[in-house]
Amino acid sequence: MKLCIIGTGYVGLVSGVCFSDLGNDVICVDKALKKIKKSDIVFICVGTPTKKNSNSADLSQVYAAAKEISKSIKKFKIIINKSTVPVTTGDEIEKIISKKVNKKFFSVVSNPEFLREGEAIRDFIYPDRVVVGSNDSKSQKILKSLYSPLISKGAKFLSTKRRAAELIKYASNAFLATKITFINEISNLCEKTGIDIEDISIGIGLDKRIGSRFLRAGPAYGGSCFPKDTKALVSTADKFKTNLSVVKSVIRSNDLRSDLLSKRVSLILNNKIKNKVVSFLGVTFKANTDDMRDSSSLKLIPFLSKKGAKIKYYDPTGSKKEFKKLKNVEFSNSIKESIKGSDIVIIHTEWNDFKSINFKKFSKNKKLIIYDMRNIYSPNKIKKLGFKYFGIQEASYLYLLLL
Ligand code: UGA
Repeated sequence: MKLCIIGTGYVGLVSGVCFSDLGNDVICVDKALKKIKKSDIVFICVGTPTKKNSNSADLSQVYAAAKEISKSIKKFKIIINKSTVPVTTGDEIEKIISKKVNKKFFSVVSNPEFLREGEAIRDFIYPDRVVVGSNDSKSQKILKSLYSPLISKGAKFLSTKRRAAELIKYASNAFLATKITFINEISNLCEKTGIDIEDISIGIGLDKRIGSRFLRAGPAYGGSCFPKDTKALVSTADKFKTNLSVVKSVIRSNDLRSDLLSKRVSLILNNKIKNKVVSFLGVTFKANTDDMRDSSSLKLIPFLSKKGAKIKYYDPTGSKKEFKKLKNVEFSNSIKESIKGSDIVIIHTEWNDFKSINFKKFSKNKKLIIYDMRNIYSPNKIKKLGFKYFGIQEASYLYLLLL
């Protein structure tokens, strides 16, 4: 099939490359939309950031793409929206295009993506499901045939109405964010009761109704999707006078999590942060990406800098402009350089590079403290090396002292 992808961010590019690999003729464009004339299917994969001073999604790029597409429809085309958009956006796209084109010459479909940053190609080729929301059967059939190579490998194909597909995307992200927030809150209780949170994650995850994924406790969730999409979902629900109290609590709990972990660092350092040398490993919102959007390091590092710590951060994706202006915050060129001379090592993301650090070799400090926010290390092994170790589950004794 002849496809055109509008938007060459991680969703657009990955979709374009993978569809081409599946044997389609693909053009990827960012601005030169005139090139879409010959395509049978046009994908809108543009950004929908949070609007300034509001929680709702900014749909200006989606609507601009729809306007441009309407100028290039000369034969029947399917317009597929892959951008994450609030319920009823497909209806708006249809309205915009129908100002110029008769409705029998086009169909607007919602086909949300579920790609994770850093895993996008694998997620595209081996999806759990492909969701196609369309109000007509003709485009459903064409889409099923486009995705048939993935369906034959085991992906479930789900046809829904267009609005349902739009909501499936937001509800999926909100549910995953809820799972993470839930396990993070349970980990707070584990810390006070001396229970290993990893046991709880495994113990509840083995129940097939719950499932083991997205139950890893850690810092506040971040990235370009969960924070933005949970807020946009609440904003849509407000518009329709529906109270999504669970999602609202998730947003609030996640916002408070960085403050909680900042306090935990203070506690671990006996409230003496001034002049402490902090090695901060990994600053992006998760491993395998260079993305800093809504990363909890954007709260943790400024907190430490304000309290007078000297921070040497290392990230496999290099130094970050976000920390350039902060006092006493420097990028280290390696894990070794970052750890050398430090009082505490904070492991903030779960990069493979951080999974087998030789702390003994990198640090001569016998009182080195390791705060492992991703529970990567075995507490006993690190303690045997003579270092103080705190994981998300291991700060317990501090609390027991306070009780
Ligand atoms: C997320 C979804 O997982 C994708 O399905 C979706 O397509 C994408 O948003 C999107 O809407 O475009 P992504 O933002 O790349 O993908 O990142 P995730 O891997 O989901 O991680 C998000 C945050 O949750 C990270 O901060 C991560 O560290 C955290 N997380 C994840 C946990 O703290 N614990 C977990 O068990 C899993």
